[in-house]
Amino acid sequence: MAIELTPLPLPASADPSKFVDFGREVKGVSPGSLTPEQFEEIKNALYKHDALLFRNVDLTPEQQYTLTKAFDPQSESYGHGNNKTESTQKSILHPDLKTIPRVPQVQLIGNGTVYNHEGLAEAMLKHPSHTTFHKTRVSLEDEAKGITRFYRWHIDAALYDLSPPKVTTLYGLQVPRGPNQICRYDDGTGEEISVPLGTTAFVSGKTMFDILPRELQSLAVRTKVKYAPHPYVWMAPSHAMPTGLGIETEGLELPFEQLPPWEESKRKILPMTWKNPVTGNLHFQVHPCGVAELLIDPLPEGSTREGVLYPDGARITDLGEVRSLLYKMQRPAIAPPLVYPHDWHEKDLVLFHNRGVLHTVVGAFTKDQVRAFHQCNLAASDDPAGPTEEDVKKYA
Ligand SMILES: [Fe+2]
Repeated sequence: MAIELTPLPLPASADPSKFVDFGREVKGVSPGSLTPEQFEEIKNALYKHDALLFRNVDLTPEQQYTLTKAFDPQSESYGHGNNKTESTQKSILHPDLKTIPRVPQVQLIGNGTVYNHEGLAEAMLKHPSHTTFHKTRVSLEDEAKGITRFYRWHIDAALYDLSPPKVTTLYGLQVPRGPNQICRYDDGTGEEISVPLGTTAFVSGKTMFDILPRELQSLAVRTKVKYAPHPYVWMAPSHAMPTGLGIETEGLELPFEQLPPWEESKRKILPMTWKNPVTGNLHFQVHPCGVAELLIDPLPEGSTREGVLYPDGARITDLGEVRSLLYKMQRPAIAPPLVYPHDWHEKDLVLFHNRGVLHTVVGAFTKDQVRAFHQCNLAASDDPAGPTEEDVKKYA
């Protein structure tokens, strides 16, 4: 049977014209036992469509690891490295992760208490919620009515020393059902979006780049992003924006000298746009929470300077300035018509192009709503490629 790709069902909030290429359900193939030829097809489909859904899948942790690793055969360790090391104890990611003992690259995530699970006698899981991360929170009254927020828009990546994983696989084993929630932006726009309970929301980094006005596209192809050392420890005392798209500038980040030992050479400096290895498209890929500096190249020789921002290049180190510029560039792409909130069913397997999308946890569960997912991604064997010289000339 040939592999069949069909568009993902979109919610009423989505603008279908912005999802022509984004997302496919894959049928006619078993993701746990792909032939090399089938895998090549799946790999191409992932880079073309950024998110692939397989329904009703049986997948062991070993099979999930094998599938994830096939996208980058030289990758080995979990995307965030060994999250049990002392140096990341204070990281905001630490409490969210439980490792499958047999296959430590696969993490058990979810909500509630899970018993006798793949060698784990008892795992207490907590669905991350905006209430512990944002500067402000939805009131208890509104929360009781099913109002919620995006938790944290991100790329899965350590952003220090290790390279961002190419793909993340998410496999839903236990999925509590419940009424939709209303995810509010609470940023003065009045925007909100109806989402399935416990959705994972995705936006396309390609769309994020494509919808920018010319002057910001020019800036995007000329800019590199420098992340803080141990960014998740650095940001731990700070609070996020109500949209979950970056950090409020309140001066709460840990001073660099109070971080676990770090080396300048291990800090990540990554292009603002990442080149899709199959389509050649540029994806705006920035994890806004961890950014410390923006390094802007001057315009290439012969380009017109009219209306151009930072034509002679710049290094922006003021956190407030860094963040407001990034927010201006990223916020348009998380508007409700551009968000794909996945409606999880048990045995759904979603593969997403971690170098082509941003995603976030959404919503809140009660303690007795048990949710169990297996997640796998691997620190990549290389850093993402940025725009080519031609890309810079085209957009600068
Ligand atoms: Fe993630």
